[in-house]
Amino acid sequence: MDKREIPVSQANRLINSGPVILVTSIKDNQPNIITLAWNTPLSHSPMLVGISIGKGRYSHTIIENSKEFIINVPPLELLEKVHQCGTISGREGDKFKAVKLTPEKSCRLKAPIIAECIGHLECKVKDIFDVGDHSLFVGQVVAASAAKDFFDVCWRIDKVHLIAHLGGNKYQISGKPIQVE
Ligand SMILES: Cc1cc2nc3c(=O)[nH]c(=O)nc-3n(C[C@H](O)[C@H](O)[C@H](O)COP(=O)(O)O)c2cc1C
Repeated sequence: MDKREIPVSQANRLINSGPVILVTSIKDNQPNIITLAWNTPLSHSPMLVGISIGKGRYSHTIIENSKEFIINVPPLELLEKVHQCGTISGREGDKFKAVKLTPEKSCRLKAPIIAECIGHLECKVKDIFDVGDHSLFVGQVVAASAAKDFFDVCWRIDKVHLIAHLGGNKYQISGKPIQVE
């Protein structure tokens, strides 16, 4: 197999293909949204998830102080808004208004969920690890919900497309479900 060298600065793109998420947080009654490609499950019991946020992001400051965040899973229909939320900062104003998304009360936290998203994980911050120019926020999931039509035991990707980030302004969508017997 012929292989070519990839710049280390783009090495993450080889494993970038989990779903892109929109993470909501809140400061002084003003909610914010950040687009994140770098997210992962970490533990079943307790249910822990990890999100990696650049130290300069407004969401970094908010979540560090509020100690909570919500992972919202966007369907393909929200692709443009996903990209917008990842290119403007909540420091410049209300991102919900700017991108026309709807904040809705969450079950357990102060931060809102995004009504147009199809899945939600409400998380309390358990740990924060310094990882280079980012921080890894470990969240304990305290409530979860998903659209009945699109999730039974897992995502119904025959009915809904999730978005994955390839890098830069390139994305891919989830394809065909395959079951191993
Ligand atoms: C598809 C996509 C994925 C992104 N993934 C991440 C990520 O995993 N971590 C991160 O810190 N920033 C990521 N970003 C950049 C932030 O979303 C962006 O800097 C955002 O404007 C920060 O918003 P805030 O300042 O309101 O928190 C991503 C952007 C895009 C478009």
